[in-house]
Amino acid sequence: MSGSAGNKGKVVLAYSGGLDTSVAIPWLKEQGYEVVTMTADVGQQADNMDEINEKAVLTGAVTAHMLDLRQEMIEKFIWPGLKANALYEGIYPLNSAYSRPIIAQALIHIAHLEGAVAIAHGCTGKGQDQVRIEVCANALDPGIEVLAPVRDWHMTREEEMEYAEKHDVPVPTTRKSPYSLDDNIWGRSCECGVLEDPWNTPPDGAYGLTVDPVDAPDKPEIIEIAFEKGIPVAVDGKKHGCVDLIEVLNKKAGAHGVGRVDMVENRLVGFKSREVYECPGAVTLITAHKALETITLSKDVMRAKSGLEEKFSELLYEGYWFSPLMDAIQAFMDKTQEVVSGSVRVRLYKGQAVVEGMKSPNAIYRYDLATYSDGDAFDHSSAVGFIKVWGLPIKTWTQSHPEYRPGLGAVKDKKLPA
Ligand code: ARG
Repeated sequence: MSGSAGNKGKVVLAYSGGLDTSVAIPWLKEQGYEVVTMTADVGQQADNMDEINEKAVLTGAVTAHMLDLRQEMIEKFIWPGLKANALYEGIYPLNSAYSRPIIAQALIHIAHLEGAVAIAHGCTGKGQDQVRIEVCANALDPGIEVLAPVRDWHMTREEEMEYAEKHDVPVPTTRKSPYSLDDNIWGRSCECGVLEDPWNTPPDGAYGLTVDPVDAPDKPEIIEIAFEKGIPVAVDGKKHGCVDLIEVLNKKAGAHGVGRVDMVENRLVGFKSREVYECPGAVTLITAHKALETITLSKDVMRAKSGLEEKFSELLYEGYWFSPLMDAIQAFMDKTQEVVSGSVRVRLYKGQAVVEGMKSPNAIYRYDLATYSDGDAFDHSSAVGFIKVWGLPIKTWTQSHPEYRPGLGAVKDKKLPA
């Protein structure tokens, strides 16, 4: 199994700078590979990003690459997801899931540039990130092998620390977080530790992006978000690039405790897990976007879209980003978004983002049809014939089957006043 360093060729390792992927460097070398690292900046909260390449080389990598993928991740992955109001099982904004297809893309790209035979990631065998990276990588280049050292090495935490010391891998001096964390510009995921008992209230320490709604300001903040064809372009009248726009909203909404999600989800790998998510900007944007759709999309498009939104979310969650069905759904979503332009006013207050107003030059909401006041243009007399035809199947059924009449329930015992 092991060989002398480099005789198997190059491997491109997805490198975070943490203990697992650092230990993976000497481990992969022992298996006979030359190690090149690829670190993706996806907007994670890391204070040592500029030292990561250096650390990779000190730990034994021949070359270290750092790619800023934030803009591409938003434009090519997150915005298509926003158009689909993507929420896994109706709640989780999928923040972790978005970063895996683009990380797979970057690994394959660097593998091509470096002439590598394999790529490697630091996922364990229990999560779905391994599934996403591997399925996506295979879709992009089935000829490149995917290695998963952490899944294969069967070391306990203690053995890993020992291995690290033996191989001069700098070990973290700060106490390891009791949680497993993953974050990027679309949000933060936190699992393990006390969260594994679904009866436990998440302790304050489980959160890192948002304030507790109880401690949020007593004064609400009202913001206005402008969309063009389903994509947010400005906040409070100020245009922002995509990275900036999400950062601004993460800050504003996070300060009001917006975007906390605590859920038990159904994992692709067969069991249920409990996770705490913080996605202040994402939750605010999805809420606003959905509202704008209510005044711009037709009823039948909204209904067809809602089924495909669920399918989109499942495909993303389950690692099928690069798939024919995902391509087809995205084409459908793009078509629907041609009219989704306008502005939404949102109140951020004590953990909630609530829509207070919306407008669009493409609105099919018609005041003259909706109003109960002067200026009503709705033809009331047309309701008579409509109800006759709409109710005809039910009336016919009841006439033919008196035994199936639904009955009057408890109301039948009511008496006339004496
Ligand atoms: N359960 C989420 C998903 O599969 C998040 C996974 C990463 N979470 C973590 N805390 N490491 O998309």
